[in-house]
Amino acid sequence: MNTYDGFKEKELNYINPVDIFCDWFEEAKTHEPNDPDAMALATVNDEDLPNVRMVLLKKIDHGFVFFSNQNSQKGIELNKNNNAAICFHWKSIRKQVRMKGVVSKIKPIEADDYFNTRPRGSRIGAIVSKQSSILRNPDQFAKEYSSYLSTMEGKEINRPAYWVGYRLVPNEIEFWLNSDYRLHQRLKFSFIDGIWTREYLYP
Ligand SMILES: Cc1cc2nc3c(=O)[nH]c(=O)nc-3n(C[C@H](O)[C@H](O)[C@H](O)COP(=O)(O)O)c2cc1C
Repeated sequence: MNTYDGFKEKELNYINPVDIFCDWFEEAKTHEPNDPDAMALATVNDEDLPNVRMVLLKKIDHGFVFFSNQNSQKGIELNKNNNAAICFHWKSIRKQVRMKGVVSKIKPIEADDYFNTRPRGSRIGAIVSKQSSILRNPDQFAKEYSSYLSTMEGKEINRPAYWVGYRLVPNEIEFWLNSDYRLHQRLKFSFIDGIWTREYLYP
């Protein structure tokens, strides 16, 4: 795919860089073979050491919403330090978007709404998994899953309080476009005093 033309005029006219993200995301959805909504989420632990893993972007509103177990490693880290970063790389269109921001939990009712859209099996998986805890035997999780499945037969599966939604509200967003000869383009937006300002960066 050829991206030599740089940023489009339309993209440069947007006041809010999230609009550029939305355009790129739509493009990625039509090209990526798997998970265009996958993003690396970086957090910091209580020794100031970084940690990163993939999560799925589930909603864009005044921030970027993802779901997880609040007792997981990321949940513990976010609870202590809610500064985080996310990064998307869509290989098929050779574009990257990275953001820094502050994370907070979404309202329980919003999390319920999303949880209830998930297939029954995924809801049970989310309930049964003690995410990031030590699993002594790899068969144990499958056993616990089957046992819960039979216990809950015919019953409603509700969101457990520990399965939550998080929203990262960005204060920096940087777009990266591939070009030949390493003449890649980077455009960084910073949210300062209620206004998005932008600057180009050397690649
Ligand atoms: C493509 C992809 C998407 C994922 N999406 C999520 C997600 O939305 N939420 C989640 O909790 N874990 C997700 N995971 C699993 C995480 O990467 C990670 O293994 C898990 O959340 C435990 O991370 P932690 O120990 O740092 O908390 C995903 C993994 C991959 C590879």
